[in-house]
Amino acid sequence: MKALIPAAGLGTRFLPATKAVPKEMLLVVDRPAIQYVVEEGLASAADEVVIINSHEKKAIEDHFSPNPELVETLRTRGKDAYADAVEKVGNYNVSYVYQEEALGLGHAVYCAHEKTGNEPFYVLLGDVLVPNNKMLPRMQEVSDAHGGASVIAVMPVPDEEVSRFGVIAGVAVSEDVWKIDALVEKPALEDAPSNLAVFGRYLLSPRVMELLADVKPGVGGEIQLTDALDAVLQEEEMYALVIDPADGFDTGTIESWLDTNNKLYAQRQA
Ligand code: G1P
Repeated sequence: MKALIPAAGLGTRFLPATKAVPKEMLLVVDRPAIQYVVEEGLASAADEVVIINSHEKKAIEDHFSPNPELVETLRTRGKDAYADAVEKVGNYNVSYVYQEEALGLGHAVYCAHEKTGNEPFYVLLGDVLVPNNKMLPRMQEVSDAHGGASVIAVMPVPDEEVSRFGVIAGVAVSEDVWKIDALVEKPALEDAPSNLAVFGRYLLSPRVMELLADVKPGVGGEIQLTDALDAVLQEEEMYALVIDPADGFDTGTIESWLDTNNKLYAQRQA
């Protein structure tokens, strides 16, 4: 089973900082943001993390490649803790596929179809961090309890934010699980079927990957993952896990990135 991390975006909101440094490589307390996401994937049931990269963002691959010379230098200087950290991150089981054109999240995910084969897969969006690594195992439990159905994490958001997200329609089947009837990408508030927004963690059936091959551009002219999820509901059940907002940390804007740095730093000092 693979965990896919789409990372081919331009990082527009962080320009000019992201002109030479990929957004995913921006520091969050003590490591690049994407390292949290890779670590979360590797701590889950996935055996490999697949980063969907662009050819312009080589720094991501350098970060997850071995660097024996640096490790050796650090050891010679007695800096073993740093040497261990460098060695560890260079040995993570990470591979790459490439999205040649930024045609949308659904298109990015489809770029990894040869990797996922006929298995369920996770999609982890890099804009949100889940440092406690507990969300994916819980999503797996919900999937197992419902015959292997797809499960997506959702979070309650205030009215003024619903139009920034994918939003679900459905019914609660337990305290924190909903059965999904429909999904809409970035609806206007008056069209939003609920306040439960797609958060950025997905456990998806292989049928979603097949359907992505035929999804037409939707909102913003982009091939939307949400549209493939809505389409798969004609054939399969899907569930939403309502997460505690305190478990997820947004880094998608400068403001939220700063806030996340502050919160995670404070947690570490506590
Ligand atoms: C993407 C998804 C959206 C989801 C959001 C979560 O949107 O398309 O459904 O709610 O991530 O962060 P984006 O933020 O890429 O526009």
